[in-house]
Amino acid sequence: MSRADLVVVANRLPVDRVEGPDGEPSWRRSPGGLVTALEQVMQNLDGAWVGWGGKADLEVDPFEFDGNLLVPVKLSPADLQDYYEGFSNGTIWPLYHDVIAAPVYKRSWWDAYVRVNRRFAEAAAEVANEGGVVWVQDYQLQLVPKFLRELRPDVTIGYFHHIPFPAYALFAQLPWRKQVLEGLLGADVVGFQRLADAGNFQRSIRRLLSYPTKSDTVQVPDGEGETRLVIAKHYPISIDAEQFIALSKDPAIIARAKALREQVGTDTLLLGVDRLDYTKGIRHRLKAHSELLADGRLTASAATLVQVASPSRPGVEAYQDLRDEIEKTVARTNGDYSSVEYTAIRYLHQGFPREEMVALYLAADVMLVTALRDGMNLVAKEYVAVRADNTGVLVLSEFAGAADELGSALLVNPHDIDGTKDTIMRAINMPKAEQARRMKTMRKKVMDHDVEKWGRSFLADVDALRKERADKA
Ligand code: G6P
Repeated sequence: MSRADLVVVANRLPVDRVEGPDGEPSWRRSPGGLVTALEQVMQNLDGAWVGWGGKADLEVDPFEFDGNLLVPVKLSPADLQDYYEGFSNGTIWPLYHDVIAAPVYKRSWWDAYVRVNRRFAEAAAEVANEGGVVWVQDYQLQLVPKFLRELRPDVTIGYFHHIPFPAYALFAQLPWRKQVLEGLLGADVVGFQRLADAGNFQRSIRRLLSYPTKSDTVQVPDGEGETRLVIAKHYPISIDAEQFIALSKDPAIIARAKALREQVGTDTLLLGVDRLDYTKGIRHRLKAHSELLADGRLTASAATLVQVASPSRPGVEAYQDLRDEIEKTVARTNGDYSSVEYTAIRYLHQGFPREEMVALYLAADVMLVTALRDGMNLVAKEYVAVRADNTGVLVLSEFAGAADELGSALLVNPHDIDGTKDTIMRAINMPKAEQARRMKTMRKKVMDHDVEKWGRSFLADVDALRKERADKA
């Protein structure tokens, strides 16, 4: 197998294996913000990407895709149950998102997590060039840096954490908390979305491992009195703003946005776009919306809410329960407040191609991002990027990482339903001049800090360490 100077390791490959109605297998872009951001940074890099192909027991040889080598890691149904649905999405995901759902602590899930993390580390070790860089992604693979360092001490290792890192008082619940910290500290650079995440990580290290930390670094004991410096700081992720701007100028997409608006037929179009996940605050958003209808401050003939909720993690119980609850609420609201002509909520439990998403962003007067906790939230940045005429209002949860940069949005606390209702009404009634002032400031932020810059700044820190090591050797 050919080797690469830069190897990305993520739970998922950028493409999923799917089968068409005729049983013919093909590859389709995989869901989520991680892939969206990374595929841009990796384009035509001649690198490698190690990850799962989206199907149980899939055995496929490494193959070329978009100028990179994709290296599929095989996961059995038991791995998927215990490592992916279990420890990753039944333990870590809820714990790291401030226990919005209750985390489950199960030793068999932990054992599977260790086993599968080792497998990913072995695959990365096999494909990385001598003295190369391996960039590990996200919470499913927190032990990979340590395992990889043991296998390949010559490579420089980066790890980026796409989701929040919780406060010490929550992280301390994890029975395997020390092992997780040691796993992450196998990296040379550990990156987070927000300053607060890096702070939480460093505090947990001081409390649980007693390693000293100083501004952006951790001093990790490394053998006989030696210490190894690990950089632990924040690198907020972003989007390919240019690509979204280009799509927003595509005549076919503009025509599609206009047609959508006409079909919806109301003066105002409110939009929510999320993976169907309990962290996204969809329930809170729907509650605020239905109360506005009940109060008579909104009517179905004046405003429509389009809610895209793309299917996610259907094997995890909390996601099944959430789906049931949301669909019941949507049906009830529509039953109570729609008319034959107008539908209060247009709910879509589907994923859509990027072109359709941009058409929706262009059609929407108000974008609602009401996450209860979110590492970054790229949807907020995508909406801002496409609003080239500086119209439109972003309502943004202060609990999303994007709020650190997009302070000119209308910030909300989604737990405060009355406050959210008032903010939605303020967004609907915002004068054009104020919309423009806010949107301009936000667009500048998103354009100045795009995903390429994010990738470059992270990899520059990794590369500086790599050079330092090469000089010492
Ligand atoms: C979030 C996570 C990613 C994950 C994505 C989709 O963005 O940070 O690591 O890939 O959700 O979730 P899934 O479980 O379908 O991979």
